[in-house]
Amino acid sequence: MASATLQGYLDCSATTPLAPEVASAMAAVQASAWANPSSLHGPGLAAAETLERSRQRLAEALGCSGQLCFTSGGTESIHLALLGAAAHLWDGTGSAPRCLISAVEHPATTAAAERLGDLGWQISRVPVNREGLLELDQLETLLKPPTRLVSLIWGQSEVGSLMPLAAIAQRCQQAGVLLHVDAVQVLGQLPFDFDALGVDLMSLAAHKLRGPRGIGLLLARAGVPLKPLFGGGGQEGGWRSGTEPVALAAGFAEAVERRLALLEAAPRAMAGLRDGLLTSLLEQPGLALVGPDPRRSPSDRLPHHISLLVSGQDGRPLPGRALVKQLSKEGYAISSGSACQSHGDGRSPVLSAMGYDPLTAASGIRITLGDWHRPDDLLALPEVLSRAIRVSRPELR
Ligand SMILES: Cc1ncc(COP(=O)(O)O)c(C=O)c1O
Repeated sequence: MASATLQGYLDCSATTPLAPEVASAMAAVQASAWANPSSLHGPGLAAAETLERSRQRLAEALGCSGQLCFTSGGTESIHLALLGAAAHLWDGTGSAPRCLISAVEHPATTAAAERLGDLGWQISRVPVNREGLLELDQLETLLKPPTRLVSLIWGQSEVGSLMPLAAIAQRCQQAGVLLHVDAVQVLGQLPFDFDALGVDLMSLAAHKLRGPRGIGLLLARAGVPLKPLFGGGGQEGGWRSGTEPVALAAGFAEAVERRLALLEAAPRAMAGLRDGLLTSLLEQPGLALVGPDPRRSPSDRLPHHISLLVSGQDGRPLPGRALVKQLSKEGYAISSGSACQSHGDGRSPVLSAMGYDPLTAASGIRITLGDWHRPDDLLALPEVLSRAIRVSRPELR
């Protein structure tokens, strides 16, 4: 099997390779600020100063004047947000409150919501339309009592839809309901100002934007109370115990600043590259766009993201997984829509929630670009994909 080069790596929604500048920044911090930031001696104080500097850099880059809590990644941030906020919202007595999530959340949010369900919360899912966009009128209806907490994905990882966050935040504020947003896919793709968004809590991870694996962030509006998930040394303002990874935090800050500088210099670069590739892909038989069409409504889709439904020469859906394997032999790394959350038969819960039938819901593939890609890297892909469709055998269904 050919292993994908960086040019053939088209799975940036799964993770991204560390940027060289980020690796250098981390190595420098690891060499100079390796001590425990809680120690009172000189090396400890140096580590604490470096850690707080990274936090400050992130606060400025993301427009957050509240609290920034480092975690191990997106999954932990989401659990801290939901379980930590819920513990303050309800003490388990009296009638059960409700938590809303969407029908197309990442499994981390679904799992955290299930934990709330075990604690007695009612959980409801807000439906999405055929494009994977949240049904706002349904949200409005569901925001009535006993809803106390809402957790929604902003940029959907599988089908690229960008939820209308301003309208969502406004409705949650009007209803007096706490809003947590999973922005793991959005960070590095769109600039944003946390304070101006009107959300209460936001989960982020460094590894989707060429930062290190193993570090995430929970941003919190000033004054939002949270109960920690576990106890210990009381680091991170008491929200997340454990000796802080100073070099990872510096890598996170470097990665965010690096990406935001690239976005500022060329705001449409990624979307332009994506749109060119999408047009060429849709000229091939057997490929259809799923999720919002960015050429019609660019603000409804993540700029690096393409998701497609694949059908064979007989017009019947082909399993996305078969295509992923076939492309891997050709040196391309893409993903089937359902990589993280398959039912076992390859059927994607996200495509099912968007109203696709079971066979079609197993036929999704996802192509997500990185900031190193250039048009030449993508020229051969439509033909390679088309060939893969032609050789995909019926028994792979
Ligand atoms: C939208 C979304 N939320 C949460 C996560 C979980 O983040 P992590 O893998 O850093 O725990 C991911 C990762 O794929 C994601 O895409």
